[in-house]
Amino acid sequence: MSAAAGEGAIQVPVIAIDGPGGVGKGTLSRHLAGHLGFHLLDSGALYRLVALGAKEQSVALDDEQGLADLGRQLDVEFRLGADDEIARPVLRGRLVGEELRSERCGDDASRIAGYPRVREALLARQRAFRRPPGLVADGRDMGSVVFPDAALKIFLTASVEERAQRRYKQLIGKGIGVNLAPLLGEISARDKRDRERSVAPMKPASDAVVIDTTTLGIDGVFEQVMKIASERGISGP
Ligand code: DC
Repeated sequence: MSAAAGEGAIQVPVIAIDGPGGVGKGTLSRHLAGHLGFHLLDSGALYRLVALGAKEQSVALDDEQGLADLGRQLDVEFRLGADDEIARPVLRGRLVGEELRSERCGDDASRIAGYPRVREALLARQRAFRRPPGLVADGRDMGSVVFPDAALKIFLTASVEERAQRRYKQLIGKGIGVNLAPLLGEISARDKRDRERSVAPMKPASDAVVIDTTTLGIDGVFEQVMKIASERGISGP
């Protein structure tokens, strides 16, 4: 690492929040970023955006090079919503919300995320989110690959049954009719794919703090992470 990169790393702390889908990474990351006044990277959204862009531009989901080119050139920006601090992705000038969060899009994202060239194409884009005063980065490989020098690495876990329940309640709350059993099957399949891929598999970095959220509410997790962050001297501006 060059001296300049080293200095930057010290000046701009990263908190990496990794773990499987439905574990509460997104909620925790938003709370942390809001509390600390840090920037936020939802790296899963980038994989989802490539999957969505591929559909729109007729790039096949098994065309690794085509997908990688799309990832590198992806015309996307994240705009802050008027009502809150959540940055919303704007793909080729069009705000994309619900379609990005669908199970289908998540599954497509998980499939294309197995391609090394797609991951490589998104690397610089993800690292560009690191800007003062700090960054909370949410994903699968934030601590292990994208920000190996993160000041704090958290890996959240929860039983697959609990995560399926959470997702089920979320979908029902939105008025979307689903059955629990197939949802549980889909979540397990996606976990397995994300965990077993050969490049940047989902796993805790060797220096990550692993927190089981199965019986812990978001407030409990948030307090625990803030305590560790303050012990490490990570604070807002
Ligand atoms: O977090 P999410 O559900 O939005 O992510 C969708 C998929 O994208 C996930 O199943 C695997 C992939 N992904 C990844 O491989 N690496 C990341 N850092 C984030 C997401």
